[in-house]
Amino acid sequence: MNNEEMKARDLSVLWHPCTQMKDHEWLPMVPMKSGRGVWLEDFDGNQYIDAVSSWWVNLFGHANPRLSKALSDQAHQLEHAMLAGFSHQPVIELSERLVSVTPKSLTRCFYADNGSSGIEAAMKMSYHYWLNRGQPHRSLFITLSGSYHGETLGALAVGNVALYRDTYQPLLIETLTVTAPDAFNREEGESPADYARRCFPEMERTIAENAKRTAAVIVEPLVQCANGMRMYDPVYLSLLREACDRHGVHLIADEIAVGFGRTGTLFACEQANICPDFLVLSKGITAGYLPLSVVMTSDEIYQAFYDDYENLSAFLHSHSYTGNALACAVALETLNIFRDDDIIEQNLKKAQKLHEAFSPVAEHSNVIDFRQTGMIVALELGEGRQQPYPWQQRRGLRVYQHALTRQSLLRPLGNVVYIMPPYVINDDEIEHLATVASEGIDIATRDND
Ligand SMILES: Cc1ncc(COP(=O)(O)O)c(C=O)c1O
Repeated sequence: MNNEEMKARDLSVLWHPCTQMKDHEWLPMVPMKSGRGVWLEDFDGNQYIDAVSSWWVNLFGHANPRLSKALSDQAHQLEHAMLAGFSHQPVIELSERLVSVTPKSLTRCFYADNGSSGIEAAMKMSYHYWLNRGQPHRSLFITLSGSYHGETLGALAVGNVALYRDTYQPLLIETLTVTAPDAFNREEGESPADYARRCFPEMERTIAENAKRTAAVIVEPLVQCANGMRMYDPVYLSLLREACDRHGVHLIADEIAVGFGRTGTLFACEQANICPDFLVLSKGITAGYLPLSVVMTSDEIYQAFYDDYENLSAFLHSHSYTGNALACAVALETLNIFRDDDIIEQNLKKAQKLHEAFSPVAEHSNVIDFRQTGMIVALELGEGRQQPYPWQQRRGLRVYQHALTRQSLLRPLGNVVYIMPPYVINDDEIEHLATVASEGIDIATRDND
């Protein structure tokens, strides 16, 4: 079996995510045969460094021996049992561990099986909490411009990336959008923290004016990944936590992309020293092995649902694969690797290496911004700070195409070339990616067509 054969078979039966399928008339898709560490290998034997961690899920490399063993051991013991009325060891142990490593008020774990469903569960729980507390009019969610929380209808409604959202607008529930404190938009000489403080009054006002009908404010802490890795200062989260408390509104922290060490701490909220009312985790929770998500919340929220059955106040949300035993066993081993291999400490050094390797790439005259938070580095392309390339030119795609010829899987977001690698990447591989990104940016910005 080679790439050509696999592509032909694929294109006759598949419909790929986030893809205009007609592009594949000229843009080859790459069928992967195997993976090992940061490397993926196709059916022709070409290898690629997975610089985007396969949509930000992979933490410890492909076919990681510890994770594969945990998965295999669990498969021989119990693959799945429904979680309503039943339980099992991996889900209990994982929940205990999650409670021990997250901010201290988060004492309850509710599982779903992907990021978007986790967001939906958190939104429903927040709304339902207010209903159970005798406040049925709190159906509004406040969100930030440029936010992304997934693509099921509820998650899409609280997102704000036009590309994904606009088509479905008539299907979406009401939300209010507040300008994000995106440090890219700060004035020259202004610090990200000062800019975040300058942005906050709009959020304060929006919460204050709508508190009685608002269930929650939902944010991606520190990095808006899908919106092109736009970053903001932790002070915004501290101010937001205070404002939510002052006005009696929930705070939902969507750490689906930034949780599990991406930003330099195990969870991004730690950098603002805050505890959300709902923390939603997915992606890295199983280090890229299996779909799983969890909504963590406080005892205060939990108690609002704890009642006699006849009062119909229970949270009846469910998914068939809730708390899947295989996924939980791998998630538990993921946390073991964090503990045993001192990952957060190691990542500080890797983040430094990323900085050293990529800051020279930022010298390119068409790189209009270079930003980094922990293990995420982004380079924004344009002709000037106020002049991003028109999206129709698909400059980032040219970087992607070049990278494939140079053993690298870079998949830019529009004009933003970013690196968000598995944590097992080594210095040589980081250097290689920087060289490839630099070459790709040269090619992508060479002309103005
Ligand atoms: C911040 C954030 N929230 C939610 C999601 C949705 O997760 P999923 O793709 O698993 O539905 C994503 C996915 O990229 C994300 O980045």
